Amino acid sequence: MTSQIPQPAGWPFIGNVLDIVTSFSCESFHRLAQQHGEIYQLNLLGRKLILVSSHALVDELSDDKRFKKAVGGALMEARDLLHDGLFTAFNHEANWAVAHRLLSPSFRTSAVQQTFDGMREICADLVGKWMQNDDRAPIDLTIDFTRLALDTIAYCTMSYRMNSFATDEPPRFSEAMSAFLRECNGRANRPYLLNILMRGRNAAYCSNIEYMRGVAKAIIAERQCGVRKGQQDLLHALINGRDPKTKGGLSDSEIADNVLTFLLAGHETTSATMSFAIYYLIKYPDVLRKLQAEIYAVVGDQSIEYEDLARLHYLTAVLRETLRLQPPAFVRVVYSVEDTTVAGGKYAIAAGSGIALLIRETQRDPAVWGTDANEFCPERMMNGRFERLPPNAWQPFGYGARGCIGKNFSWQEMKLVLCTLVQQFDLALADPAYELELSQAMTIKPKNLSIRALPKRRKW
Ligand code: HEM
Repeated sequence: MTSQIPQPAGWPFIGNVLDIVTSFSCESFHRLAQQHGEIYQLNLLGRKLILVSSHALVDELSDDKRFKKAVGGALMEARDLLHDGLFTAFNHEANWAVAHRLLSPSFRTSAVQQTFDGMREICADLVGKWMQNDDRAPIDLTIDFTRLALDTIAYCTMSYRMNSFATDEPPRFSEAMSAFLRECNGRANRPYLLNILMRGRNAAYCSNIEYMRGVAKAIIAERQCGVRKGQQDLLHALINGRDPKTKGGLSDSEIADNVLTFLLAGHETTSATMSFAIYYLIKYPDVLRKLQAEIYAVVGDQSIEYEDLARLHYLTAVLRETLRLQPPAFVRVVYSVEDTTVAGGKYAIAAGSGIALLIRETQRDPAVWGTDANEFCPERMMNGRFERLPPNAWQPFGYGARGCIGKNFSWQEMKLVLCTLVQQFDLALADPAYELELSQAMTIKPKNLSIRALPKRRKW
C-alpha cells in the first residue's frame, strides 16, 4: 500500500504556480521542502513535478537504469538556442552520443593540462585589472569572474579571445546569456497563451538568441578561414572530428549549438563557484589563513605551476565545501523510465514523471552532514572523509552519462585562479555587514557581492 506524495493546496487551473517565485525557485523549493519534507509534488499549470530533498532519495534516484535526465521546463526552452547540443539533447537524440564521443577526449586530464598556460594568461588579465585599481574601488566580484570564466572557456577551448577585460561594461555575451536563461525560466512557468502575448519579452528573447548565434558563427568562421587552423582544441574536434562509430561529423549549425553550449555551461557555473568560494574565505578568516599557509608552502611567491595543483589539498577541500553549500546547478531533473516506487515502496511514481532532485538541499541533509550541515567547514572534505562519504552525498557535477563533461577543466581553472588571488591580494568585503544573497537564472550565484582587493606588499 503506497502513500500519497504530499502536495500544497493549489488553485483551479494554475495549481501550485503561486507557491513558486519563478525568478527565485531555488528559495521557493527550499521553503516548500521545509514545510512538506523529503518528498512533495507540485501541479504547475497541469504539469506534475515531484521534488525530493533527502540524501536517501537522491541516492535512490541516482540510478541511470531507472531514472534518466529529463529535458523539460527551462531546459526545454533553452533548446530554442542550443537545440540538440550536448547539454540540452534528449537522451535518445543521436547527436548527443556523436558529440559526446567527439568531445570526451578534449576533457581528459592530459588534454585539459594543455590549457593550463592559456588559463594563466586570462588570469593575468584579471590580476592586472585588480592591480591597476589604484583607488581601491569596490570590485563587483561576480562580474569579474564572469569575464574571467567566459574568456577562459573561449580561449582555452576555441582559441578565441573575447577580451572581456578590455571594457568596463559587463560582457555583452554573458548579459545576453543571463537574460536568455532568465526568460527560459519565465516562459517555462507561464501559460503558453501568456507567453505568446508578451511581445516585448519575446522580441528581446529572439534578439538575444540572434546575437549569441552570431557570436558562435563568428568564432566558427574565423577558424574555417584558416585562423589558428592547426590548433588541436575543442573547436577543432567539433569542426574536423569524425565520430569513430558512425564516421559522421556535425553540420555547421550543430557545431554552433555546441559552441554555444560550451560558452554557456563553461562559464556560469565556474564563475559562480569562484564567487561563492571568495565569499566564504572572507567570512571565515581561519580558513583563509590556513589556505594562505598552504599556498605559501606549496607555491611560495612564484607563479603557480601545473604540478602544484595536486598538492593544494586544502584548496581542494575549500572548493568541495563551497560546491556542497552552494552548488550553482542547485537542481537536476530526471524522469522515471517505468512505473516504480521509491522510499522502500512508500511512494508510487508513474512512468515518465518528472522528478527534481534538489541538490542544494540534499548536500545539507543532517543525516549525512550532521547538525552543523549549514556551516562552512572544509575539514569535513579532508583526510579521507570525502572519500568515505555515502554514494551521491556530494553531487554538484550531476550524475552518470549526463554528468558534467567539463569537471576537470573547471577544477583546474578554479584552483589556478583562487590560488593566484589569495597569493597576491588581501581580500575584504566592500560592505563588512554584507550577508550572502542569491540571484538565479538557470543557476545560482551571489547577488550584490562587492569586495576590495589590496595587492599584498610581500607575497608572503
Ligand atoms: C553538465 C555542473 C563546469 C560543460 C553539467 C551538469 C551539472 C554540471 C550539474 C548536469 C546537468 C543535468 O543533469 O542536467 C557544473 C559545475 C561546474 C561545471 C558545478 C563548475 C563548477 C563546466 C565546464 C564545462 C561544462 C567548465 C565546459 C568546459 C558541461 C556540459 C554538460 C554539463 C557540456 C552537459 C553534459 C551532457 O549532458 O552530456 N554540469 N559544470 N561544465 N556541463 Fe558542467
